[in-house]
Amino acid sequence: MQADIVVLAGDGIGPEVTGAAESVLSAVAARFGHSLSFSHELIGGISIDTFGSPLRENVITSCKGADAVLLGAVGGPKWDNPAAKTRPEQGLLAIRKGLGLFANLRPVKPHPVSLEASPLKAERLRNVDLIVVRELTGGLYFGEPKGRERVNGTIRAVDTLAYTDEEIRRVVECAFTLAEGRRKKVTSVDKANILETSRLWRQTAVAVAGNHPGVQLEHMLVDTASMRLIAAADGFDVLVTENMFGDILTDEASVLAGSMGMLPSASLGDGGPGLYEPIHGSAPDIAGKGIANPVGAILSAALLLRHSLGLEVEARAVEGAVDCALREGLRPKDLGGTTGTKEMTEGIIKQLKS
Ligand code: NAD
Ligand code: IPM
Ligand code: MN
Repeated sequence: MQADIVVLAGDGIGPEVTGAAESVLSAVAARFGHSLSFSHELIGGISIDTFGSPLRENVITSCKGADAVLLGAVGGPKWDNPAAKTRPEQGLLAIRKGLGLFANLRPVKPHPVSLEASPLKAERLRNVDLIVVRELTGGLYFGEPKGRERVNGTIRAVDTLAYTDEEIRRVVECAFTLAEGRRKKVTSVDKANILETSRLWRQTAVAVAGNHPGVQLEHMLVDTASMRLIAAADGFDVLVTENMFGDILTDEASVLAGSMGMLPSASLGDGGPGLYEPIHGSAPDIAGKGIANPVGAILSAALLLRHSLGLEVEARAVEGAVDCALREGLRPKDLGGTTGTKEMTEGIIKQLKS
């Protein structure tokens, strides 16, 4: 098959990990006889420095015309000035919103070797196989009004948490569809004892569940869910939750997998290109050192093959290659080893060829 992929490498370790994922995708194309073309565009801090904007309109247009988008990470201390009008992170929100990517899938299945790197007891991790479906284009990230006002010398800042029933329905529907192909359980995570948006979330989840009789629905408050993710994560199958809860819970869930560097994500909408990015950030503390773990980005490339290109066999080949490379002893620094980004990537590509 022929496919066009836009690469938005971004800042910090972004280019290091998307470079790794691109090499793996090229190796997949060579082995399976596909033609993948990559075009590179700027996003985040580097785009602010070059063009004065974290994401230009023409880049969104290019992404809309592509089959899929591969993204690294944005941000860093250089652009962290709280008074700045433009921030790298705005570019990330703009591409998610611009492509209508309301469902962010973040699978968490700890690799046997990464169990050693997790501070949690191995027996609590062994049977963990969950996926968080994070709502991605609503909630506190996008609600209006948003901003600051000064009243009689007092500064007041406002963010708004708002959801429509339709915004909730479509993402919960996505979670149920996923659960049908898995262990048939959806945990809807909210704060319905306090928030009106959560009460609408719960009510909508119940309505969606009515169309999926084979799937069990449970409701869980977000504070309880954050505890259970550490204490008994093997009880979860599919979790579905609003934007910010999903952001926080998935960083927490990365501890189950040994490191932030291990977790991939897929952001999907109603048709159109998907966006694939590791869940970690630009990791300014290790950028440029050649030690970033590329596995999260490479597994995101596997999700790209699966969800945007419909190449299931190829997706599994990448996941299998990562599995073998880890089993054969390659360990990036965040998993307690010394394998650099390039060596890790080459090790995975070697497995892919064999
Ligand atoms: P971070 O995820 O960048 O880093 C947290 C810690 O995890 C750091 O110690 C880092 O070295 C480590 N880490 C992350 N990814 C790694 C990898 N692949 N291999 C090895 N170690 C890895 O979070 P932060 O430091 O809080 O944020 C830095 C910047 O990244 C901020 O500007 C933030 O806004 C941005 N950010 C961007 C995204 C994104 O683009 N999707 C996501 C999260 C944070
Ligand atoms: C993520 C990041 C982003 C988010 C930031 C950088 C805007 O933390 O992708 O998880 O909160 O969505
Ligand atoms: Mn995050």
